[in-house]
Amino acid sequence: KRTVVLISGRGSNMTALIAAASDPSFPAEIAGVISDKADAAGLVIARARGIATQVISRADHGSKQAHDAAIDAALAAFNADIVALAGYMRILTPGFVQKWQGRMINIHPALLPAFKGLDTHARALAAGIRIHGCTVHFVTSEMDDGPIIAQAAVPVMVGDNTDTLAARVLKAEHRLYPLALGLVAEGKARMEEGRAVLAHFAD
Ligand code: GRF
Repeated sequence: KRTVVLISGRGSNMTALIAAASDPSFPAEIAGVISDKADAAGLVIARARGIATQVISRADHGSKQAHDAAIDAALAAFNADIVALAGYMRILTPGFVQKWQGRMINIHPALLPAFKGLDTHARALAAGIRIHGCTVHFVTSEMDDGPIIAQAAVPVMVGDNTDTLAARVLKAEHRLYPLALGLVAEGKARMEEGRAVLAHFAD
């Protein structure tokens, strides 16, 4: 399945997806990377790995709708089957989300439905939880609210600060996102009637 990754910054999850997809047996290939920021560090990494990149910035478009229409056109040009949001820091318009529903996934640095939105690690520490983690979910029009595909948990250690906790979660993200993309690309995780349907693995 041809997958296009949308980023806004560092691109470490994008890098993990590119690395996983470089294995010919992986069910998805990274067809391109789109960033809304021309200075996103992830663009440099993607180019160095030979992946086609495109910058589509909000400032070059008159409205959010026009911006998302340009992204949609780029996805069509890439022949995208799947869209993977990886630190893409904009809310997508409902029409765009609707069009890609079931084919667009996101990674969130918390165990949803806890800690939607930003600053998840600071809020996790403030709440005093002892287990934290990350989630890959199908994207719906409600932010960080779509059907869950996969999650990974990490402990919160005594003495953690946001940096140490974020680093531990990020390591888990880099394992979880390729796994979840693989499930979607193989059709083992699907979205039906607003819910995630996961393949049953015989034990
Ligand atoms: C990750 O923590 C991801 O979960 C969140 O934004 C961050 C992006 O980091 N959505 P990177 O750009 O993948 O390094």
